[in-house]
Amino acid sequence: MNSLQDQVAIITGSAGGIGQAVAEVFAEDGIAGLIIADVNSDRAEKVAGDLQTRFGVDAVAATVDVSDSEQVHAMVEMAASHFKRIDILINNAGIAPVVPWPKVTEENWRQVMDVNLNGALLCTLAVLPIMQQQRAGRIVNISSAGAFVGSICTHPAYGVSKAGMIAMTKSLAKAFAEDGILVNAIAPGSIDTPLVNHFGEAQKEQLIQAAPLKRQGSSRELADAVWFLVSNRSTYVTGATLHINGGSLLV
Ligand code: NAI
Repeated sequence: MNSLQDQVAIITGSAGGIGQAVAEVFAEDGIAGLIIADVNSDRAEKVAGDLQTRFGVDAVAATVDVSDSEQVHAMVEMAASHFKRIDILINNAGIAPVVPWPKVTEENWRQVMDVNLNGALLCTLAVLPIMQQQRAGRIVNISSAGAFVGSICTHPAYGVSKAGMIAMTKSLAKAFAEDGILVNAIAPGSIDTPLVNHFGEAQKEQLIQAAPLKRQGSSRELADAVWFLVSNRSTYVTGATLHINGGSLLV
């Protein structure tokens, strides 16, 4: 390990769940700086403080709603002025409200698209000039198995937003390869976090049974895959989508 030494990462939605686990794996690997960017400021402060204490990493909490471009720019400006560089962006913040088709409205559709897809776009647009100047950068978009099979349990816009992230990943990978910026996606299956817990026990069990491995993944298992995509072990990988789902798309 130790491949992230001297690097700085922004991880959105890192006050809990998968994002928090990613921050921990990066901290374990000796990363120099972390921005714990989340709409939940209390939890972001707590996670940043905990990482500082346990790993000695310079972890800074930033309160940001990724769907708000002014807040995103303020967060990235703060990160760039504090650390003087940004090497890694993990577009992880996401919402998965349980809304069936008959309850879909223009408003709740836009809300899901704004956070999940447009939020990733806004963060990407804000960091790209910095990465281009550095002539290096890694971006990982956290998509979903729902991008491939349509939303499972969640709002129909969820799968659409996550499929959009995959197309955006490919387009960014092609456009910024010559700047030394690698862009990849991960499509998780059911991962044990608060996001899935609010689906209810029956739905959770259905997701478990759909995977040949017959269990949920852990945030740590997902975070290890994210680490691979930002480490020096994946220098020939761009525009790819890594499926971390216990085989659930095989059946
Ligand atoms: P989670 O609900 O545990 O964590 C999401 C984090 O994002 C929370 O800390 C929340 O405060 C933050 N957040 C929500 N809206 C935000 C906004 N507008 N701006 C900034 N931060 C915001 O969810 P989990 O499971 O850790 O999910 C992380 C990502 O992984 C999401 O994009 C989700 O769609 C994706 N995913 C999760 C799966 C799972 O089974 N847990 C499966 C497939 C994809």
